[in-house]
This record gives sequence, C-alpha cells and structure tokens, in this order.
Amino acid sequence: MSIDLRTFRNALGQFPTGVVIATARTRDGQRVGMTMSSFNSVSLDPPLVLFSVHRQALTFAVWQTIEKYAINILNDEQEKLSNQFARAKGDKWGDIEPLTGKTGVPMMPNAAVVFECEPYARYDGGDHEIFVGRVMALHEHDFNRGRPLVFFDGRYRQLASSASAHTPPPDVLQYGW
Ligand SMILES: Cc1cc2nc3c(=O)[nH]c(=O)nc-3n(C[C@H](O)[C@H](O)[C@H](O)COP(=O)(O)O)c2cc1C
Repeated sequence: MSIDLRTFRNALGQFPTGVVIATARTRDGQRVGMTMSSFNSVSLDPPLVLFSVHRQALTFAVWQTIEKYAINILNDEQEKLSNQFARAKGDKWGDIEPLTGKTGVPMMPNAAVVFECEPYARYDGGDHEIFVGRVMALHEHDFNRGRPLVFFDGRYRQLASSASAHTPPPDVLQYGW
C-alpha cells in the first residue's frame, strides 16, 4: 500500500510546531544556519533534543561533522529570519550580529530560548537524518516567553491570547511535564 505524497505532507501539516534555526560554526570557522520545524524534546535526564535534516540540503554533510551547535527557538516576530535561513543560496547571515554562547557557538539575538548542544547520536530517517543533541547550556529571553513563532498547515502563525489556555489536571501531569 502506498500513500500519496501530497496527501501525506498535507496531513503532517495538521500538526503544529514551533520554528527553530540551528546555528553553528564549521571546522574552518564558517557560520552555518538552517530553519527547521522538526525540532523536538527527547529526554530530560540526560537532556536530549532532536531535529532532522534533509539529505538533499546543501549543508547536510556539514551538519554531520559539526561538534557543537545552538538551537534557537524563534519568537513570533522572527518570520523574516526564518525565511532568511530557509533559503539555500546567498548570504544567510547578512548583517546579523550573532551572540556567542558558553560553548562558543553563534546564537541568534532575540530568540525566545537557545539550547547549546553537542552531538549525541544520529539515526537514519529515510530521506532525512535524525540528529540527537545533548543540551550543554540554555538561555531564555524572558521578554519573548510565551510568544513562539508557530508553523501550521504550511503557514506561519501566532498563538492567540492565553485566555483559553487550560492546564491539564494534576493526575495527567505526573509524567513529569
Ligand atoms: C518553517 C520551515 C521549516 C523547515 N524545517 C526543516 C527541517 O526540519 N529539516 C530540513 O531539513 N529542512 C527544513 N526546512 C528547509 C530548510 O530550512 C532549507 O532547505 C534550508 O535552505 C537548508 O539549509 P541549507 O540549504 O543551507 O543546507 C524548513 C523550512 C521552513 C521554512
């Protein structure tokens, strides 16, 4: 049984995600960065996160060699930045002046949260490869808290007011969230 690709892609688009830019320096000091919606949490202890990179991405082979990187969670005013780092050609960094993390990685200014990571594992993910990173340090910019850039149904979105937000009952929160 085969699944129609377009139907599959559209169905996946019904799962809302945030948007991150993974940033790093190559061994010869070049800055690289890539917009991703495949970021997710994996483990609290040890602290692990993941993302997946398309094997056809220009910088795919670069990501396989990188020794530390930052995952920058974008806020809802960083749509332009997201587009900038989703274009394969051209100077992605332009006039951006990156911050430098505790591990020396370049980090996006004004990201809502930044995780500094080192590679932990890589797995086959079909036309993507799954990268698991161990979080070494994190930074939160409180003024951007609660205002993530959201990607849903092929479009950027912003969260509506939190007036309709509900906390799950305590018995379903025992899992540790
Ligand atoms: C919202 C959004 C989410 C994306 N998520 C991913 C992703 O999770 N994995 C991926 O390989 N490419 C993803 N892309 C596409 C890459 O950002 C794009 O192919 C980029 O040019 C790759 O960088 P490179 O050409 O420098 O290798 C996404 C693009 C957008 C706009």
